[in-house]
This record gives sequence, structure tokens and C-alpha cells, in this order.
Amino acid sequence: MYLLNKIKNKLQGNYIKRSWPGLINAYKQYLPVSSKTPIISLNEGNTPLIFSESLSNLIGSNTKVYLKYDGLNPTGSFKDRGMTMAISKAKEEGCQAVICASTGNTSASAAAYASRGKLKSYVLIPDGYVAQGKLAQALMYGAEIISIKGNFDKALEIVRDLSTKYPITLVNSVNPYRIQGQKTAAFEIVDDLGFAPEWLCIPMGNAGNITAYWMGFKEYSKIKRNLKLPIMMGFQSEGSAPLVKNIIVQDPETIATAIRIGNPVNREKAKIVKKESKGDFQSVTDEDIIKAYKKLAEEGIFCEPASAASVAGLIKNKNRIKKGSTIVCVLTGNGLKDPDCAIKNNDAIFRNNVEPSLKEITKILKY
Ligand code: F0G
Repeated sequence: MYLLNKIKNKLQGNYIKRSWPGLINAYKQYLPVSSKTPIISLNEGNTPLIFSESLSNLIGSNTKVYLKYDGLNPTGSFKDRGMTMAISKAKEEGCQAVICASTGNTSASAAAYASRGKLKSYVLIPDGYVAQGKLAQALMYGAEIISIKGNFDKALEIVRDLSTKYPITLVNSVNPYRIQGQKTAAFEIVDDLGFAPEWLCIPMGNAGNITAYWMGFKEYSKIKRNLKLPIMMGFQSEGSAPLVKNIIVQDPETIATAIRIGNPVNREKAKIVKKESKGDFQSVTDEDIIKAYKKLAEEGIFCEPASAASVAGLIKNKNRIKKGSTIVCVLTGNGLKDPDCAIKNNDAIFRNNVEPSLKEITKILKY
């Protein structure tokens, strides 16, 4: 027995001990949970902060660019950070069903966490504007999907109305627990870097995530004194830029369907973030987004088009960046979410119908 244990210990000693309990357990003391909260988790969070050599070189002036790759969450987007909180609290409050409007990612995440928490989920989506991967997820996770002849803004209006009239919990980013969960991404960045970046570049749709990051940085700055707060740079697509133009866009259009939103619910909160952080909101074209999307892939990082808006925005501001800055671009969703966009927008060589012979393949390889 002694020998057996000795061997076992020796073997265990060869492993790197690693465990991540999910973001609620990891950051419990900063979140509105108690011992009574049933934690519904898929071990979300703890996503990598990846150094980008090619973007750092492109910006120059000793800038260090990092990518917060939140597309590596369990359902492939940052929404899981908010959803673990929203669903856990819904469960604690005894709710039986949840509802959301979505451009895709919220619906996938809500469906997954609702299933995990044994709750019913309903999702309203804009007909024809949800990327395939996201739709596949919502179907698989067992949501009831209602595809409306209207855009995201209309869908959100309806679900907000429904949730005030019926006993069904709204899990869009108007739900305060969503923002609470999402703020942990800012904690992770500070925990990784040891400080906050000079700039945080982030795509904006409903502007829940930019609000959450700012909350996270501010809260951490109270705990970790000397934490200098970042300048918050929010980016939207030119055809869908209500926050940049300070208007309601009636018919938003963009290749980045995740942020195809004309009337963001968190508009006022986003304005405060911009003011407090001395930040800026800018638009980028679909063309800029696709260029950034491809540039990231050249470095082995595949994100969805909406996420690439943060990098497109950074590139646009190349000449405004102070020497020696550290910048974080948030990559909100995984590239696999939108395979159609990738298949239509790449420079790869794809030969098909090739004869399966050594001679033929050798000829192609030019050896
Ligand atoms: N990036 C991705 C990949 C998203 O899915 C979203 C929002 C955003 C950025 C913008 O975040 O709304 O907090 O400013 N997607 C929502 C959805 C609207 O329904 O999945 P935001």
C-alpha cells in the first residue's frame, strides 16, 4: 500500500496541477452570490490573453497588443460569462423559464445554461440573420426558437414586454446579473497582465459588454490600488453604428450579424463609460472588419466577424497610440460560429476533384 501510494504520488507529481472552477467560484467574493445560489456552470471564463506579434509589429512604437480570446468559452462566446450568473440567479429565484432576443450568441448561451439548469428557454431571433453555428447550438441545446420577420431591436422590444407580463426571466444584457458575470473578463486581464492595459478595444452591439468591462476595471481598481484605468475604445460597423452617430438606426446592416443592432439598450451606460474613461466610439467598415478577420487568422486566431471589429478599430487608430502602450482587443466570439463568412472570405487555395495519385499530388506540391 505504501509503495502504491508512493508510486501514485510520484506520478501525480509529474502533472501540472490545474483546475478552474468556473468564474462564479473563482470570483465569488466580487459577485452577488451567496451559499444559497445554485451555481449553474460549464466552467466558463479563464480564457487566454494571447500576445499578437503581428499586430504589435503593425502598430509599432513598442506597442504590445494582446487578444482576449473569449471565443474559447464553453459555447464559443463571452455570453457564457453573463449567462452562468443570469441562469444561476434565475434558478435561485425559483424561475422556470428564460427568454431572450438574440443575434445568435446570446441564444446559444442561454439555451445551453438553461438546459444545464433544467429550465425552459425561448429565444427570439431575426429571420435569416443568425449565423449557422449559433443556430445549430440553440437547436441542439434545446431552446424553443421563434424566428421573427423583423430585426434584433424588434425582438428585444417583444421579449422585454413579455418578461414584464409573464413569469419568465429575461436574460438579455438588461438583466443586471449578465453584466456582473461579464465584468470578470476585466479581472482576468488584470490578473494576467498585472495591470490594466492603456487601451481596451471592444466591439459594441447592445453595449452590455463594454459596460461590464468598465465595471470590472473600476471595481478591481478599488481592490488593487494603483490600478490605472484603461481608455475604452468601442467599435461598431458603419452600417450599424447607433452609438457612434448617436441616433437610432432603423435598418442596421453589416456582415458582422452579431452586432447588427440599431437601438442598443445600454446606450446611456455606454455613454458614461466613454465619458469616464475618456474613450471613443468609432465605426469601421465591413471591409475593414474582413481585413482584420483575415489578419488574425494569419496568426492562427479564428474569431467571428463582429469580434474582428475590435482589431479593425485598433488598426484604424494606429497613429494615435502612445509609445510603449499595452493594448487589449477583445475577441468576443469564435470563428466557427459563422462558417459561411469564412468560406466566402478567405484567400486559401482549395483544389477539388484531384486524382488520388502520388504523381498528381506531387505535381501540385511542385516537388
Ligand atoms: N461580439 C459578439 C460576437 C456578439 O455576439 C455581440 C452581441 C457583441 C460582440 C456585442 O456585445 O451587445 O454586449 O455590446 N451579441 C448579442 C447576441 C446581441 O444576441 O448574441 P454587446
